[in-house]
Amino acid sequence: MELKLTREDFINQYPLSNNLNKKDLLTLWNKEGFNLYIHIPYCTKRCKFCYYKSLEHGEDSVPDEYIQALLKEIEMVSAIPQIQAKVASSIYFGGGTPTKLTSYQIQTLMDKILSSFNIAADCELCFEARPAAETDEEKLCLLMDYGIKRLSFGAQSLDDQVLEDNGRNHNSESFYRVFDLARKIGIPSINVDIMSGMVNQTFESWMNTIDQLLDLRPENIAIYKLELYLNSELYKQFREQKFTLMSDDEEAELVTAGFQKLMDFGYIAVTNFSVSINKEYNHTHRKKLWEGEDMLGIGASSHSCYNNYLFQNEIDVQKYINSIKQGKMPMFRAYSMSKKEIIARRIIFGLKLVNLEMKRLNDEFGFDIMALFRKEFEYLQENGFIEITKTHINLTLKGIVYGDDIVRLFYLPHQKGVYMPHAARNKVRGKCL
Ligand SMILES: C[S@@+](CC[C@H](N)C(=O)[O-])C[C@H]1O[C@@H](n2cnc3c(N)ncnc32)[C@H](O)[C@@H]1O
Ligand code: SF4
Repeated sequence: MELKLTREDFINQYPLSNNLNKKDLLTLWNKEGFNLYIHIPYCTKRCKFCYYKSLEHGEDSVPDEYIQALLKEIEMVSAIPQIQAKVASSIYFGGGTPTKLTSYQIQTLMDKILSSFNIAADCELCFEARPAAETDEEKLCLLMDYGIKRLSFGAQSLDDQVLEDNGRNHNSESFYRVFDLARKIGIPSINVDIMSGMVNQTFESWMNTIDQLLDLRPENIAIYKLELYLNSELYKQFREQKFTLMSDDEEAELVTAGFQKLMDFGYIAVTNFSVSINKEYNHTHRKKLWEGEDMLGIGASSHSCYNNYLFQNEIDVQKYINSIKQGKMPMFRAYSMSKKEIIARRIIFGLKLVNLEMKRLNDEFGFDIMALFRKEFEYLQENGFIEITKTHINLTLKGIVYGDDIVRLFYLPHQKGVYMPHAARNKVRGKCL
C-alpha cells in the first residue's frame, strides 16, 4: 500500500466528476418500482381448508361500503409524497375472491388506481378467480380492456370427489368451462393453483390432475401444500378425527412426482412452488417482491412491505371500514426490519426463486454473501438441496420440494423455531394430533 502525499487536491466529490456520462442521464428521473395488492375478503362459500381473511357472503356481491373504503384508502396512500415518487410495477387483486366484484366495481376500482398512482408502462395486472359462475365473460372482457396480464384460478384439484371432501365450492366441469372462456377471450397468462396433500387425495388422483393440466397447458401452475391452519374448519374436523391425512413423506412424494412430470413436459420451476411454460410468463408481482421491491397492500388484513417496514391493515373488515371512515390510516401493526433481517429475507426469497444470483446481492449489500454463509450453503450442497455455480445458487428438485424448510437455515437465531399457527401432520398416515 502506498500513500502519495502532495496536498494537490481538495476533494469535494466522490466518485469524481469525470465519471458523469450521457448514458446515465437517460435513467436519471426513473422512479423506483413498487407493487400494489388489493384484498377482496369475500367468498361465495368458505372452503374448509382456507386460512385467508375472507367472509362467506353467498351469492351477494361485495358490499359497497367496502368498495368505498378501498377507494378512500387508495386516495389516502397515493397522496403520500414518497408513494408519488414511485411507479407501480404490478397491480394484484387477491382474496378472497376478487371475481365476486361486479363489473361496475372492478371499473370503479381500476379507474381510481390508474388515476391515483404512477403506473409503469409494462405494469402487470393480475386477478385471482374462482373457476365458477361469477367469473363470466363480461368481467373477463372488462379485465382485457384494462390490459390484464395474468388470471389465477383456484382449481385445487380436478378430482370432483376430492373437491367435495375438502369443502370446495366448484367442480371440474366449471373449471374447464371458465378456463376455456379465458382462453377464448385471450387472457395472456393463466395460472392454475392446485393443492397437494388434500383430504382423500391419492397418488393416482394427484397425477391425473397433473395430466389433465398438461393437456390444457396453462402458462403457470402453482402447487400449494395443504396446511392445516388453526382457524380453518378442516382443522376442527381433523381434531375430531373425522378424516386422516397422508403423511409428510407421502405428500413430498406427490410433489416430487408432480414437479418432475411438469418439468419433463417442458415446464420450468420459477419458484419453489410453481412452474411456468417459459420464463416470460414468470409472475412479475411475486418476482419483484421476492427480489426486494416494495409492496403496498390495500384493504382489510392486507400486508405491506415498504421502506424496510412490514405492516398490516386492520384484519377485521368492519374495523378496517370504521378506521377509514374516521379518516385514519387502517394499519394496526408494523415491524421495522434490521439490516440482518433484510439480508436474510433477500437470501430466503432469492432461494425460493430457485436461482439466487450472488453478484446482485453482493453488489447491493457490499459484501460477499457466500463467505458469510459458507457453512449453511455447503451443508445444503452436500445434502443435495442446492448446486453452487460461479454466479448462482440453484435449487435442485429436492431443494424445491423442501424449499420452505431449507431457507430456515438463514433465519436469525431467535426466529428459527417459530412457525405459523398451523398443525403439523404426523409422519405416519392416519394419526391425528
Ligand atoms: C386466495 S386463494 C385463491 C383465489 C380464490 N379465492 C380461489 O380459491 O379460487 C389462493 C390459493 O391459496 C391456496 N390455499 C388456500 N388455503 C390453503 C391452505 N390451507 N393450505 C395451502 N394452500 C391454501 C389455494 O390453492 C388457493 O387457490
Ligand atoms: S380458498 Fe379461495 S374461495 Fe376458498 S375460502 Fe379461501 S379465498 Fe375463498
